[in-house]
Amino acid sequence: MNTTVSRSDDVPAPAPALTPIAVAPGDGIGPEIMAATLRILEAAGARIEPRPVEVGQEVYLRGVSSGVAPDAWEELRRTGVLLKGPITTPQGGGYKSVNVTLRKALGLYANVRPARAYAPFVATHHPQMNLVIVRENEEDLYAGIEHRQTDEVYQCLKLVTRQGCERVIRYAFEYARAHGRRKVTAMSKDNIMKLTDGLFHRVFDEVAREYPELATDHLIIDIGAARLGARPENFDVIVTLNLYGDILSDIASEVAGSVGLGGSANIGETVALFEAVHGSAPDIAGQDKANPSGLLNAAALMLTHIGQGDVAARVQNAWLRTLEDGIHTGDIAGEHTTQRVGTQAFADAVIARLGQLPERLPAVQGEAASRIQVQLSDRPRAEKVLVGTDVFLEWTDADRQPDVLGERLQRAEGENWRLDMISNRGVKVWPQGLPETNRSDHWRCRFLWRAEGVPTHADVLALLTRVAEEGLDFVKTEHLYTFDGQPGYTAGQGQ
Ligand code: NAI
Repeated sequence: MNTTVSRSDDVPAPAPALTPIAVAPGDGIGPEIMAATLRILEAAGARIEPRPVEVGQEVYLRGVSSGVAPDAWEELRRTGVLLKGPITTPQGGGYKSVNVTLRKALGLYANVRPARAYAPFVATHHPQMNLVIVRENEEDLYAGIEHRQTDEVYQCLKLVTRQGCERVIRYAFEYARAHGRRKVTAMSKDNIMKLTDGLFHRVFDEVAREYPELATDHLIIDIGAARLGARPENFDVIVTLNLYGDILSDIASEVAGSVGLGGSANIGETVALFEAVHGSAPDIAGQDKANPSGLLNAAALMLTHIGQGDVAARVQNAWLRTLEDGIHTGDIAGEHTTQRVGTQAFADAVIARLGQLPERLPAVQGEAASRIQVQLSDRPRAEKVLVGTDVFLEWTDADRQPDVLGERLQRAEGENWRLDMISNRGVKVWPQGLPETNRSDHWRCRFLWRAEGVPTHADVLALLTRVAEEGLDFVKTEHLYTFDGQPGYTAGQGQ
């Protein structure tokens, strides 16, 4: 993709530097849409050097359970950019999702998914919508740390770090600033999850103060998702935690009417991955039917990322013009379709329009924005003091009467610990619980240190020994700390 331009004195200009990018065509429709996309990029004058890497089904079937060929990692590190086709995750045990593997291994902390309407050429009830969802990509319930703790109770750990929150929130603000967006909305459920989601909200408020030119607000995720579905045109940039972002981005693509058209970026500190939102569509693979638009829009995000916003705009404007001219693949064909085409003919139509602008849809401006670097703030570590322990038990004796359990646990207190309360699925049942509360076989028993000084690990072990000697089956413990004097745990009443 190297075009040499002649100057008037006929001395050839030096070839513009080409940016190497790793390219993984993917599975199913991946190779077709990747070929179409790369043809368009080449014709648009993208200053890139595609370097193939092996990722996907063939790699899995060779016995590499991550689906990523060992030498691909080096290429990813070298180029720092991966344009990836969709990957089929084989059914059955032993195979991990390539996407999750790449995200975690490469520290791709922010998932950026623009969702906009292309009405009337693609049907939607919200022709004005044009928003971007920035989703935290590495933490939250996606850590995949799950346990069955008792016969009845299963647990999934939600892990949220201050750095993870700050990184993605700063990215969202920097993105808004770089892309001329006006408002950043955070969504969380901090009315219920006061520590984890509360941290996200607090960091959002802190970072927001550094961007006074941007409007900001915070919505509880349930009403936020409802409003996104009902009035998406009121949103601009949304930043949120991993699971909420996963759900919101599908809602946004769906109401934009463009699930098949969306591209997404997964941004890390040193590597970024660009891909379509859809999967490998095995049902239409190899038939020249697939719409390459999702991957093409991902490639446009990639071009902006590597500082070739001019080429990105050229590609997207030609693509918008193609949509306007009614040249559509089968998945979006409708009343505005003049010609129903296959994958490669669609790419040809886009190439034929390079240099043209859309006439009705807003044209894309070339953005100078290139890689956004996020700087985390310095913070001293907090002073951590052990003040108690929650002991989780499996217990079904005595018709599950909390008073009976309370008596037995008080016998295990010893000199220095005091049983403070017992809760069942977060609801306090001792002392003074309500008889109506449903009780599982899983009891959280809170012991606080009542002696002078700070308990040691040995003190906790001594307590656990006494609990076991009482014939009680502890399945897990969780230490209670204060951090700079603030409790690092919730009261756990949860009613
Ligand atoms: P899918 O997105 O591949 O297909 C859903 C439906 O949309 C199918 O009817 C398909 O024909 C259609 N479709 C998807 N992309 C299209 C396009 N570009 N043009 C025209 N029609 C298109 O979702 P599905 O069937 O749930 O997943 C298939 C495979 O893809 C699975 O193995 C899944 O794990 C994988 N997958 C991979 C992703 C990735 O690599 N990022 C994301 C989602 C799924």
